[in-house]
Amino acid sequence: MSKKAFTVTAALPYANGPLHLGHIAGVYLPADIFVRFLRLRGDDVLFICGSDEHGAAITLRAKKEGISPQEIVDKYHHLIKDSFEQFGISFDIYHRTSSDLHHEVSSEFFKILHEKKAFTQETSMQYFDESFQQFLADRYITGTCPKCQHDAAYGDQCEKCGSDLSPTDLMNPISTLSGQTPVLKETSHWYLPMNNHEDWLTNWIQQGILNGEYQHNPGEWKNQVVGQCMSWINAGLKPRAMTRDLDWGVPVPLPNAKGKVLYVWLDAPIGYISATQAWAAKNGKDWRSYWGKAEGTGRKLVHFIGKDNIVFHAIIFPILLKAHGDLILPDNVPAYEFLNLEGDKFSTSRNWAVWLHEYLASYPNKIDELKYVLTSIAPESKDAEFTWADFQQRVNAELADILGNFVNRTIVLTHKYFEGTVPAAEQLHPVDKDVLEKLKSVEQRISALMYAYKIREAQQEMMNIARIGNKYLADEEPWKKIKNDLDRVATILNIAIQITRELARMAQLFIPDTAAKIYGMLGVSPDTLLGEVTPIPAGHTINQPEILFEKIMDELVAKEKKKLIHAAPQQTPYPAMKELIQFDDFTKMDIRLGKVLSAKKMENADKLLVLTVDTGIDERTIVSGIAQHYSPEEICGKSVVVLMNLAPRKIRGVESNGMLLMAENHEGTLSALISDRGFEAGPTIG
Ligand code: 2FM
Ligand code: ZN
Repeated sequence: MSKKAFTVTAALPYANGPLHLGHIAGVYLPADIFVRFLRLRGDDVLFICGSDEHGAAITLRAKKEGISPQEIVDKYHHLIKDSFEQFGISFDIYHRTSSDLHHEVSSEFFKILHEKKAFTQETSMQYFDESFQQFLADRYITGTCPKCQHDAAYGDQCEKCGSDLSPTDLMNPISTLSGQTPVLKETSHWYLPMNNHEDWLTNWIQQGILNGEYQHNPGEWKNQVVGQCMSWINAGLKPRAMTRDLDWGVPVPLPNAKGKVLYVWLDAPIGYISATQAWAAKNGKDWRSYWGKAEGTGRKLVHFIGKDNIVFHAIIFPILLKAHGDLILPDNVPAYEFLNLEGDKFSTSRNWAVWLHEYLASYPNKIDELKYVLTSIAPESKDAEFTWADFQQRVNAELADILGNFVNRTIVLTHKYFEGTVPAAEQLHPVDKDVLEKLKSVEQRISALMYAYKIREAQQEMMNIARIGNKYLADEEPWKKIKNDLDRVATILNIAIQITRELARMAQLFIPDTAAKIYGMLGVSPDTLLGEVTPIPAGHTINQPEILFEKIMDELVAKEKKKLIHAAPQQTPYPAMKELIQFDDFTKMDIRLGKVLSAKKMENADKLLVLTVDTGIDERTIVSGIAQHYSPEEICGKSVVVLMNLAPRKIRGVESNGMLLMAENHEGTLSALISDRGFEAGPTIG
């Protein structure tokens, strides 16, 4: 395959708080895997990121913490940068938008667009907070959404219905600074007339065409991205202000613009360009090779982002890049959906999050485990969920039992039977040829998936190598054949070593520390992805085995869940209330107090008890899944709450008439609801 050139960006995180696993799974990790793949393929790639340090996200946080915006961005920029480094996200540069260079580059960009008449200047009435003497845009103002009536919509967007809003769209506007109703006051701003760009944007997004040429293959864009862009365009694009009345940001570089700064969504994506310039200056390169339309012909610009950033990267920034005239447009904008946590959204304000820096401090040796799990559940096409129990399950049952186990068996057996020397492959059996054939096609499949941004599936292909290896060893049973067929065992282990090497080669993309350890055990240097590799020769000496993954214990899961709930006291571990029902729905249920007359275990079922219950009107059999919480002796004689008129159901051949109602706490423990007044069986409940 011919070499390709890429400029890959990952959304600049706001330097207003630490990173959590949602950020990592939905932007930085997939971007990093993609870039590792390109580098191993020998493609020419530059990977850019940095802190987004302007805008209301920063100033409002500064106000909350009682420190200056500069102190806020200094604090979080370093925390974020260190976490990325420790986690092994391999940016070529992690820059920041409060730097002098970024101020220069974004001012220059604004001036170029201004000279090209890309903006219009407009005067209008805008909300103003008199006590703070400040105009209120974006998150500085809240109110009722005119579209869905949500009463906490912001001046730029309603997070409930996703509508794009202006402060003057809000009903009952309130200043987030003072809590007071603002007044209207005249101000003047530079606007991007996005409405003038609908035609070319439509062609470019849907067909990939710009200026009569194909700029990208539209079939490669995710449906959600194209869908979201087209719904914006079809609703009609509106002029959008590109400047703000604020004292924190990049000053508008024009006369008579005192007190005005660039809109954060204008300066932030230019941050990709200023970061490239900072990197190029340090590395003796010309930044234009990475962004210039003329210099970077054929180079693909790829923006990894979360779905809430689609409009900025697939509509607004392309308009700005095109208006500039000398720069390339994105080839693709892989946008990720959101990751949830233990049944709820990640929330910084409620502290419902697993913070990356805390994970790294607690588990500095479990970085690949986290990478693997986050890639397995990457929210590529729909929202996904992280739970600690699932983390444990995937590490133990997949990384340890499949991948770790295969590598360990191969290395241990090679030491045991051949003193750590790779044995020669003798006569190949069809099963050996079949395995080698399968191995050959994995790289191609992974490459195709990676270029299609299907990173989750690509990782599954990598795991399949370990599965193939385990099956091969299990079927060929070298530990049995060693008694009478040393040649056959030599062949089997030779092949197992080649499988291990291929596994390490592909693991470099997803779990790079583990790949390095496997290469270390094999005693060979890491491979590239530039076509087939020459097999490790017979006679080569390998190194001692080391355990790749330790099992995750139940205690870790319990500790982390407890920590989460403790850190978010207002967060209950219980599900949200179900939908409202009407009184009539409730009265359909016949609920009574009953008494358990006898109880016995259901044969061959760990969880079930068969109970005879006195309900006051009859004696009936109820099969109940409480055996792990109550012994027959314990439940016998107890008062219990019975749902009487639940239609009978056969459970393991026994007809169950009704259901015992139990309380279940968040650890899954059940408790019968016992009468506190010594009632006999029969009373109705309702
Ligand atoms: O949504 C965010 O977190 C923004 N800080 C992303 C900015 S991406 C780019 F434009 F810089
Ligand atoms: Zn709304």
